[in-house]
Amino acid sequence: MSRVSEFRDLPKIELHTHLEGSAPPAFIRGLAREKNIDISGIFDAQGNYTFRDFDHFLKVYDAACTTLQSPQDFHRLTLAVLEETASHGVIYMESFLSPDFCGGGDLVAWRDYLAAMEAAAAEGQAKFGITMRGIITAIRHLGPDQSRNTARVAAETAGDFITGFGLAGAEMMGRPGDYTWAFDAAREAGLQLTAHAGEWGGPDMVAETIRDLKVSRIGHGINAINDLALVDQLAENGTVLEVCPGSNVVLQAVTDWNAHPIARLRDRGVKVTVSTDDPPYFLTTMSDEYDALARYFGWGPDDFADLNRTALDAAFCDAKTKAKLATRLEQQ
Ligand code: ADE
Ligand code: ZN
Repeated sequence: MSRVSEFRDLPKIELHTHLEGSAPPAFIRGLAREKNIDISGIFDAQGNYTFRDFDHFLKVYDAACTTLQSPQDFHRLTLAVLEETASHGVIYMESFLSPDFCGGGDLVAWRDYLAAMEAAAAEGQAKFGITMRGIITAIRHLGPDQSRNTARVAAETAGDFITGFGLAGAEMMGRPGDYTWAFDAAREAGLQLTAHAGEWGGPDMVAETIRDLKVSRIGHGINAINDLALVDQLAENGTVLEVCPGSNVVLQAVTDWNAHPIARLRDRGVKVTVSTDDPPYFLTTMSDEYDALARYFGWGPDDFADLNRTALDAAFCDAKTKAKLATRLEQQ
């Protein structure tokens, strides 16, 4: 990870990160020590997170989150993540935030956690020059009932910082239509919408997500490649894919980088963007992702400029913020 990347300083827009999933293992170990929580089993001998597959990853992730217990913890986490992310040239990041990990989905508790994250975001902007927006995210494996609560919490706290609503977690539990109520409520509150789909599910999951949740972006979406008619429809409708290739390789959603469909999707006209998902879990950074895209698909500065313009266009922030960020992208 300490390799010097020729793309490190390139200004980048990152749309798909999970805040808790961006917590460095040493940060989580520190909290565990402070609170006397034994989660030693989630780390390997080198101190990195360790997991066998996606289901195990979700368990390890949930275990790590048990150490995040107060608004102050989330303030520290947000600031640490912004510093690390900005050090890879990211000038704008969107992060999935989960009220379920912040006071168990209680609105009053959530307001305190949110205030702490928003304060850290303002500090991050001033200190590291990175702009952050939050996407409140329901967790699929907690079920549709809980997603309705999360959507209510999102609707209550939508604003300048909370600009989106999303859906993550175990994709193969239930169907997208189980979450229609939550997405309708979030849309009515003015939130922009994205949902994980086609990371594990097939093209049908991507198509249903668009039909039933009316999202403008899809988290991952890579399995759309198995239905070229759907790929053409994504291209035609301008649906944006938040692709996280390093995550897909480590979690084995694809066999290896060579097999990753990002270049094929892009070549067929789909709006693809690139993100890290949960960077320390996958031992990746935005610099690493760009290096790999250059190595495996021959992408260079023009491709990355195009990628970042697409991402900024699809970002869930206001027009004034976009205009400022566009100037910074162009200065490159
Ligand atoms: N939560 C954190 N990372 C995730 C991923 N890659 N897919 C689904 N849910 C997640
Ligand atoms: Zn994700």
